[in-house]
Amino acid sequence: MLQISSDEIKKQRKLVITWGVTFLIAFPLLIVLGLLMRLNQGEVFDLGMDTFYVLMTLHGLGMAGVLYSMAFAALWYLISTRYAKLNLATGYVVYFLILLGVAGLTIATLIGKFGAGWYLLYPLPFKGTFWPGWATGLSIISLLILGVAWLVGIIHLIYALAKEFGGFTNLLGWQYLRKKEVDRELPPIVMITTVSLVPGVIAFLAGAVFLIMFLMQHLEPSLAFDPLLLKNLIFFFGHTLVNITLYCCIGWVYALLPEYTGRPWKTDKIVVYSWNATFFFILFAYFHHLYMDFVQPVGFQYAGQIASYMSAIPATAITMFGVIAQLYHSKVKWGVIPLAFLFGTAGWAIGGFSAVVDSTIAANKVLHNTLWVPAHFHTYMLGGVVLFILGFLFYLSHTKEEQEKDKSAKIGLWVFVIAVHSFIAFFYRGGLRSIPRRYADYKGIPIEKTHETGVVLAKYATIFIWLILIALLIMYMSIIIRLMKKKATPQPVSAKNG
Ligand code: HEM
Repeated sequence: MLQISSDEIKKQRKLVITWGVTFLIAFPLLIVLGLLMRLNQGEVFDLGMDTFYVLMTLHGLGMAGVLYSMAFAALWYLISTRYAKLNLATGYVVYFLILLGVAGLTIATLIGKFGAGWYLLYPLPFKGTFWPGWATGLSIISLLILGVAWLVGIIHLIYALAKEFGGFTNLLGWQYLRKKEVDRELPPIVMITTVSLVPGVIAFLAGAVFLIMFLMQHLEPSLAFDPLLLKNLIFFFGHTLVNITLYCCIGWVYALLPEYTGRPWKTDKIVVYSWNATFFFILFAYFHHLYMDFVQPVGFQYAGQIASYMSAIPATAITMFGVIAQLYHSKVKWGVIPLAFLFGTAGWAIGGFSAVVDSTIAANKVLHNTLWVPAHFHTYMLGGVVLFILGFLFYLSHTKEEQEKDKSAKIGLWVFVIAVHSFIAFFYRGGLRSIPRRYADYKGIPIEKTHETGVVLAKYATIFIWLILIALLIMYMSIIIRLMKKKATPQPVSAKNG
């Protein structure tokens, strides 16, 4: 039986706290970029078009990268202190490589003015640019470094789990589908980690392929590639990255929520079927990003709609049902951690629903490239993933009793949730009023009413961004004070079973 010493737990805790503090610094800085963009769209000041796209690029890439990295770091911590031995040095290598990648991207955007957006839509990073070539090169190399770091982390984690649980298929829970009793229970977090991270490997490899093609063209400008192929690769990479970030978080909700409700949450056949279905469909849902590309084979477009529905429904429905079963008539005391998990699950459900609406071809014809799109992914990232991460950081810093009694943390959380959904409501309203996304400002829109609506919505949305920052400050104080006070005295653990 696996034994994890208290010394090992202490060291892994230090690593995850390093991650946590990095997240706490980077996240509000990236929000400020969002605030500046919304103020520009609200015509409160004029940043200039170039600066807007530089900020949008850093904000988009930064948020997606920081959230995925933090979600992965939390999984790493929970796995390494409960289920499998993970190499600490590898954990630090991943951390420093990610810092290096982020530093490169920050220089390329803020100094080099690289502004191609997270999607680097080919041939954009090479043609019609307002930034120097070195900024493109540095961005490509920085993204490659990030990809390598994430790949190393995932492969190490999956390998360690496969070794511990007797092979890869066991990690997917297939032993539950046989008639025989299972020898060793599989904790849901282990299965969900696998279902999330293995598609991540495929997505990061696709990312590496397009980045290497970009690098080749950067070094040899006479080269040219098929734009549709590149768009497929980029959106497969981007869509999958965001999806697996969410699923990584769901993994720890399965592991941690039972500690507050007192009810076990175990792997069974239904959980295995639903998450294995997600494992498959997650790989094909990205086709819904290419509905407007008329040269894309029509069959892929229908596959995109079907896979979008299929990837959303099984794991979401089973998890929602599981969360309700955990909480309904349970003796849970509503401390900040179960609250954060409950609100996060709600954000996931609401954002997931509006994503499914947008992935419906008939609706997409109207909503495509309107503010509906940022509305839906901000709902499940800001109103879902970020709440799960905050819940995890409270778990790191607070004891069970402390998180129940901490009134200021709870006030901060409530203000955050209300402010987040209010801020996003302005995106939804904009989408329904046909306000385009990715417009630095709305001055060029010839329909006066649409221009005016875009400006008013952007201006009022900023009030709630300030509120989000205030709520974060309240929660930060609570987390940081306790992290500094708490001298962890971790106990050695034997591998847990669920
Ligand atoms: C309070 C927090 C946030 C604010 C104020 C904010 C604000 C904004 C704004 C104003 C835009 C431009 C929308 C447009 O006009 O098209 C944007 C885009 C974006 N945001 Fe956020 N955001 C926040 C949180 C997040 C989070 C948590 C994520 C996590 C992934 C995120 C990811 C993105 C991405 C990827 C884009 C670029 C979309 C594109 O390429 O069109 N944001 N955000």
